[in-house]
Parts: sequence; C-alpha cells; structure tokens
Amino acid sequence: MSIHVGCIMDGNGRWAERRGEPRTAGHTEGEENLARLVRVAVKRDIGWLTVFGFSTENWVRPRSEVRHIVGLHKKLFGRVAELNELNVRVQWIGRPFDSKSARTPALVQRAIRKAIADTRRNTGMLLTVAFDYGAKAELVDAVNHLRAEGRSITPDHISESLYLPELPPVDVLVRTSGEGRLSNFLLWQSTGSPVYFTDKTWPEFDEAELDAALALVPAHGTAPTR
Ligand code: IPE
Ligand code: IPE
Ligand code: MG
Repeated sequence: MSIHVGCIMDGNGRWAERRGEPRTAGHTEGEENLARLVRVAVKRDIGWLTVFGFSTENWVRPRSEVRHIVGLHKKLFGRVAELNELNVRVQWIGRPFDSKSARTPALVQRAIRKAIADTRRNTGMLLTVAFDYGAKAELVDAVNHLRAEGRSITPDHISESLYLPELPPVDVLVRTSGEGRLSNFLLWQSTGSPVYFTDKTWPEFDEAELDAALALVPAHGTAPTR
C-alpha cells in the first residue's frame, strides 16, 4: 500500500508527568513506542512513515532534556538490525548538516549516515525521521536554492527543491496529545491531507490509533462512525 503517514509525536512530557515521572522518561517511552509503531506500520503495508522527532524550535528546551532527546535519536538510528529484519529503509529530513543554521550534533550525524547506509538495500517501508527539521526553513532553503540557480519560483520547482523531493504527498497526518497545531511539520507536503487529531499522547499511540488515522485516507478503510 503506497500510503504516506506523517506523525507529529507530541505529549511525551505529559505522559510522564501524569505518572509522576520526569519528562525524560516520556521521551524514552516515546522512542520505544516509535519502534513498536514501525512494526505495526510494516504489518499494515504502509509505504512511507515520516515522524517528527525534534523541531528547529525545540532547541530552546532545557539543556538536559535536549541532551536526552539527542541521545534517543542516536539510539533510534542505531536500531539497524531491527529495521533490516523488517526490510525498512531509513531516511532523515532536517536542516542540511553543512548549512549555517544546522544544529544536528556530530554524534547524531554519524548515526544518521550509518543508518541510511546500513538500510539502503531494504525495499519495504521508508521511515523518515525529522530531526532539526522545520517546514519554514525547508521552504526558505528551497526558494534560496532556486534563486541561486536563477530558476523561477513555481510550485513544481519548489517541490523539486525540498530536502527530500522524493517524499510523496502526505496521505494522513497524525497529531497526538490533544493539540490542534501542525507546529511547522511538512507544511508543503501535507497541504491536501486529512489530519487525525487524538487526545492520546505519543507513548499511547497504538495499532488501534493508527487504524483510526488510516480510516481518514480517502478510499481506504471505513470512515469512522460519528
Ligand atoms: C514531544 O513531546 C517530543 C518533542 C517535541 C521532542 P513533548 O516533549 O512536546 O511533550 P509535551 O507536549 O510537553 O507533553
Ligand atoms: C511538535 O511538538 C514537535 C515534535 C513533535 C518534534 P511540540 O511540543 O514541540 O509542539 P508545540 O510547541 O506544542 O507546537
Ligand atoms: Mg509538546
């Protein structure tokens, strides 16, 4: 099934706070849940799963929280054996490492490069992790790239100049944790996609939740009952 699902993985902090645990425990569980969800997405034969791991806005969070989240991305991109077993190819989307504003730490850059190289032969689902990603930065970079090449600014040219031009339009966008915002995620790629808003936090986002989101994709599944 060539469906592209995008997930704004929100609510890790609230999940932990509700259990009287530190916010970092929520991020740890959020990463575990992503690993679980990848398995479910493969089982559902989803073509592309793109997840928002860390935004260009998230760097202002407390240093210790940022450090913890950075470490979790190293762990996530290190799950190569699991991903190979599932035939999943990994990609990354974010501010290019060599751009002036980029902030991806070297240890995450290495993990990203290794994960991409070590899963490149897989032919199943493409898992794209957004880290140091912001849609505004992506669009500004695309326009600047076109201007530098003396090309006109058209929708087609912008689409070709995005960070991952091969990423298809999003078929359904998920936002967890009761928020009704897109928070600068894949704005160009999801202009026409339905959005599944759920009160569940990201660590609680499970198979039934994914199915409810998939039901919003036109001509896929049954529309949810009102
Ligand atoms: C999402 O969970 C993870 C990131 C943004 C990195 P949050 O950390 O935003 O959790 P809440 O929204 O504070 O509950
Ligand atoms: C969106 O969550 C970013 C990620 C999931 C990485 P945030 O928690 O950062 O979004 P806002 O601040 O509520 O818009
Ligand atoms: Mg949040």
